[in-house]
Amino acid sequence: MTRRHEARLALGKDVMEYVTSSALDETGYVVLDDAADGLEPAEWQELEYLRWRSSGITRFAPLTSYRGDVDCNGFWNYTPPRTDKDGVWIPEQVAKAPGLVRRAQEPGANVGRCRVIELQPNEYADAVYNLHQDDNNRLNPEGTGWVVRGYVNLTDDADSLMILRSDRFDPATEVRLPLRAGTRMIIDTQRLWHAVWHRGEAPRHGLIASWTSGPELDAYIAANGGRPRGESVTIDGALVEEAQIEMHRRIEERRRAFEAQGITMEPTPSLYE
Ligand SMILES: [Fe+2]
Repeated sequence: MTRRHEARLALGKDVMEYVTSSALDETGYVVLDDAADGLEPAEWQELEYLRWRSSGITRFAPLTSYRGDVDCNGFWNYTPPRTDKDGVWIPEQVAKAPGLVRRAQEPGANVGRCRVIELQPNEYADAVYNLHQDDNNRLNPEGTGWVVRGYVNLTDDADSLMILRSDRFDPATEVRLPLRAGTRMIIDTQRLWHAVWHRGEAPRHGLIASWTSGPELDAYIAANGGRPRGESVTIDGALVEEAQIEMHRRIEERRRAFEAQGITMEPTPSLYE
């Protein structure tokens, strides 16, 4: 029983839990075996990209959207609002990237938002400042599947790292997973703080799909060697310490900038959607 579950029982409230994947219970993520082959650069190079603010300097090429047009907005920002499920495939994008669509559909789990992210090179301190949690389960009704995120790294960025922390401000909770071409992981991005440190020269491209937890996803994780720990890369302690200081400096700088506009940030809101 989870703590939230217990708290609700104590309050005498109805207890409805989300359907989650037990494979993600321990660490909040699983690493799958690398995608064997079949990554075709033309598929992501020819897509239409939109400028869309995420963590870092990014553009997104949506493969699904609220209504099937080339659009990146959260499904909850429309009328009627919808949770991050039942993404509508965008015909002109799907036609350019059938292999990516296949990968997103492969588990047989419901697909919400699905897009290719393009990230420009950055520094470790940028990634630490960019750490954020997603909002995949906004409006998601309890009793249904919890939305997590599938990632496939498309470009070969073996020196770049997916940074995960269970505690945003505690580097001791950090895991750093290298992003070779075909690296696959499933992350509960609403639970874990995450961002990518991209050390390449060229932009990094990755496929992201919002997947609904349930028996289909469980079977997919099991069939693809899902494991709750990846080989985490060690980095210089001084670099980590500097990045911590820089993160706090930037957060404070941002808070002041908002305050100057009469916006009080209390409690600190999530930096990004
Ligand atoms: Fe995210």
